[in-house]
Amino acid sequence: MKLEGEWVRSVARTESGILILDQRKLPWSVDWVELRSAEEAHRAIREMWTRGAPLIGAVAAYGLAMALQDDPLQLDATYARLAEARPTAINLRWALDQVRDAVRNLPLTERAEAALRRADALCDENVALNRAIGEHGLALLEELHARHPNRPLNILTHCNPGWLATVDYGTATAPIYLAHDKGLPLHVWVDETRPRNQGALLTAFELSGHGVPHSVIADNVGGLLMQRGQVDLVIVGTDRVTANGDVCNKIGTYLKALAAHDNGVPFYVALPYTTIDRSLASGDLVRIEERDAEELSWLTGPTQAGELATVMVTSSPAYNPAFDVTPARLVTGYITEQGVTARI
Ligand code: MRU
Repeated sequence: MKLEGEWVRSVARTESGILILDQRKLPWSVDWVELRSAEEAHRAIREMWTRGAPLIGAVAAYGLAMALQDDPLQLDATYARLAEARPTAINLRWALDQVRDAVRNLPLTERAEAALRRADALCDENVALNRAIGEHGLALLEELHARHPNRPLNILTHCNPGWLATVDYGTATAPIYLAHDKGLPLHVWVDETRPRNQGALLTAFELSGHGVPHSVIADNVGGLLMQRGQVDLVIVGTDRVTANGDVCNKIGTYLKALAAHDNGVPFYVALPYTTIDRSLASGDLVRIEERDAEELSWLTGPTQAGELATVMVTSSPAYNPAFDVTPARLVTGYITEQGVTARI
């Protein structure tokens, strides 16, 4: 996608490592940081400098490749270290599996180069998958817009399922970008997505950059908008879809699915095949990441004077589960690289 006038991907190779955007600072400053080791990749994933299911997979894949450059015997230990950086998104393990499987039977001297090649390839593949999701989603958006051709199509999304969460295009945003580029009038309701505000900070930043009309809303507003007929469809991304179609995504997704169901609003999930975990029968088996309560108790942003400041929201004990599970019965359809399907 275009960032400050330049075509970029959210992860790029350098001579000595990879470049990522420090997403903790967006949108207030656009800082690229270089990661030069598996340990730096682990830290960037764990502390959410980089985030989003497909992107943490890509960064972990490069992290494993960098470890093999230092010591080709590091394969299993580094795989295990990176795999535990964040527990919920299946893409992390998928990407590590891809690299490990590509190199495990090679001579030690060939491992690092082969790992880098596999990491490059899975990044290219992610872009192609998201583009295909975009094409199929575009057809869906055109169909829905044709029902009310005289007004913009209103789409609600949650968290950041955008190019910042993937290598490019995003998942749920891919159809939005393609539709906007094609001239389809649309407007996006962007859930703020407490506690880390990926919607208000990241999705809004992306949509602004691409010129897509949007409004940020508090997380509690979607139900009212659906009751009033101001949402034509919901599209979210996902961190893991289990064999029965249950959808694990950013905390708060489930409540939007319930509201959509109650109001007859179609609820779609956009995902590549790399996000499907057929080893788990249902969503209640997914390990839900619980993050530091400080993410909830403190907020950071610029003051009116333009200085970044961190302020307390509550001094009470807080609880911060990062994901929830939307049962398959609440999902209207899955937008995948193969098409839009009612079942996964
Ligand atoms: O905790 P995060 O910010 O990594 O969570 C990201 C999301 O929940 C996204 O919506 C998700 O990765 C799916 S779309 C790529």
